[in-house]
Amino acid sequence: MNFGFGQAHAKAHLLGEHSVVYGYPAIIAPLLSLSTKAEVIDSDKTLIETDNFSGTMFQLNYRFSGIYSLLTELLNFFEEPDLTFKLHIKSNIPSKKGLGSSAAYAVAIVKAFCDYFDYDYSDEEVFKIAQISENKNHGRSSGGDTYAVMAEGPIFFDTNKDATILKLDTKAYIVVADSGTAGLTSQAVQLVADNYEKDPETFGNYFKQMGAIAEKGREEIIADDLKDFGRLMTENQNLLAKLGVSTPYLERLIKIALNNGALGAKLTGGGLGGSIVALTDTEAKAAEIKKALNKAGAPESWISKI
Ligand code: MEV
Repeated sequence: MNFGFGQAHAKAHLLGEHSVVYGYPAIIAPLLSLSTKAEVIDSDKTLIETDNFSGTMFQLNYRFSGIYSLLTELLNFFEEPDLTFKLHIKSNIPSKKGLGSSAAYAVAIVKAFCDYFDYDYSDEEVFKIAQISENKNHGRSSGGDTYAVMAEGPIFFDTNKDATILKLDTKAYIVVADSGTAGLTSQAVQLVADNYEKDPETFGNYFKQMGAIAEKGREEIIADDLKDFGRLMTENQNLLAKLGVSTPYLERLIKIALNNGALGAKLTGGGLGGSIVALTDTEAKAAEIKKALNKAGAPESWISKI
């Protein structure tokens, strides 16, 4: 019996979401405690099972057309378009929370099929195929999420769509908290595109400022200058609000994180709901911030060392 396994983890944008879609850099950290695992096994009938779906390829196309396109492309890539299989996917990454769940799904599936076919893949190959479903899901995708859910450390995703793992020696911790409201990345990306079309000068200028913040942020985090990095995160949040993707729920949690000693805080991912990320320099402070966010109504939160 043939078997393949693949997995990927969640991510949190520390700087640069949205402007990254317009070619500016972003810094994205992995959230290793949240992951998606995919298993593919031989079967005489194709069946795809996830936490909230069970059905055939035909049915999948109706519910999750991005994953359907991805599987079709994968089977063609391996020159096995008629392969029948059972694909089982399990994930504890909450979806629509800005944490990269769709990219993690795609990467876990691609890696599972590479393993199934005993194919020695490169990250670039996985990236190219996984981006098929990301582009379909988000309308327009920078690719940053796809690299971040594969990387074991924080990445600097640059303007050439290359990801460099930042070699850090830092005491930084992040607290990521779900605001309890869903954020659809495709809607947020579309909203920003509409705003940009209406006023290219102002919005183009916001993107440029966010790009400069991410460039500066790389220097600060490498130097372990967490106060300045935190300040940049909060500055980035002000620009995200100007783009139109922040919400009162997110703003409230950001304020609570800052009032409880966070060095910086912002929404993370597409926005319009979803999650926030706050920075601190000790595990004890991270625990305090997490407690305050939970008390304020965040249904779930996670601490991660970066
Ligand atoms: C979504 O996690 C991040 C965005 O910048 C979209 C993208 O990079 O494709 C909003």
